[in-house]
Amino acid sequence: MSAAQRLAGKVSIITGGAAGIGKAVCERFGQEGASVVVADYNLAGAEAVAAAIEAAGGRAMALQADVTDKTQVDAMVAKTVQAFGRLDVIHNNAGIIQVKALLDLTEEDWDRVQAVNLKGTLFGIQAAARQMIAQGTGGRIVCTASAAARRPNPYFAHYSASKGAVVNLVQASAVALAPYNITVNSVCPGIVATAMWEHIDKVISSEEGLPVGETIRRRLEGVPLGRVQAPEDVAGLVAFLASDDAAYITGQAYNVTGGMVMT
Ligand SMILES: NC(=O)c1ccc[n+]([C@@H]2O[C@H](COP(=O)([O-])OP(=O)(O)OC[C@H]3O[C@@H](n4cnc5c(N)ncnc54)[C@H](O)[C@@H]3O)[C@@H](O)[C@H]2O)c1
Repeated sequence: MSAAQRLAGKVSIITGGAAGIGKAVCERFGQEGASVVVADYNLAGAEAVAAAIEAAGGRAMALQADVTDKTQVDAMVAKTVQAFGRLDVIHNNAGIIQVKALLDLTEEDWDRVQAVNLKGTLFGIQAAARQMIAQGTGGRIVCTASAAARRPNPYFAHYSASKGAVVNLVQASAVALAPYNITVNSVCPGIVATAMWEHIDKVISSEEGLPVGETIRRRLEGVPLGRVQAPEDVAGLVAFLASDDAAYITGQAYNVTGGMVMT
């Protein structure tokens, strides 16, 4: 069954699009008819995702951009408009984690995680909103927060704090951009099968003397739907928020956690 074409004619940017959740969102947006800019600091990975979308009959372009660098984020939007004529949707999704105990965190650890997860999200919102306001046709901004915003983890306090701040930044941005018919929402994934959770499991399992995979297995006991989520589970929600069906939704933070988090 082919996907609905809810995003036909829309131009979109997905940061962190080369892998994991971002890659699944790029593919889903491509299937739903959007032109897709796959933005990532891993250019080779972004090119592979863009090539796969084009091979499947979609429209895509890869761009190298480090979201911590405002100049590169502004250039990412400018190059998108140059190539596709406009910008309708941005998914600020690039993010990093570090697994480290609270009392061992250094100032550098803190700054690095906030720079990608929080400052990078701000730069993406600003650059996209400026373009959308200039176009005068509204727009959609979706940001990847995390269940960690709701249920903080002692192994990554700085990451949890960055994601809590993303939820708050999204709410303030939703109010600021509502007069321009730009909606801003966040998604809060739980335990998604990507390189990020593989890394978390490896470090925590080793720290606690458990076999690899055991940390994830134990966490799954708290997931009512009982399975690790796929990046595609997040992509479905992001595509909905980018679609016309979500026109009256703004400032929200949606859990997509298989029921692990319900508030
Ligand atoms: N995996 C999970 O369980 C999970 C859960 C909740 C939230 N998240 C969030 O989802 C998002 C995607 O995570 P993922 O699991 O797909 O991770 P991933 O590591 O599989 O992919 C992240 C992508 O972001 C890119 N990236 C990292 N820093 C960047 C930067 N400075 N500029 C541009 N690109 C950069 C990487 O190259 C990579 O392609 C992140 O914001 C993460 O915090 C993930």
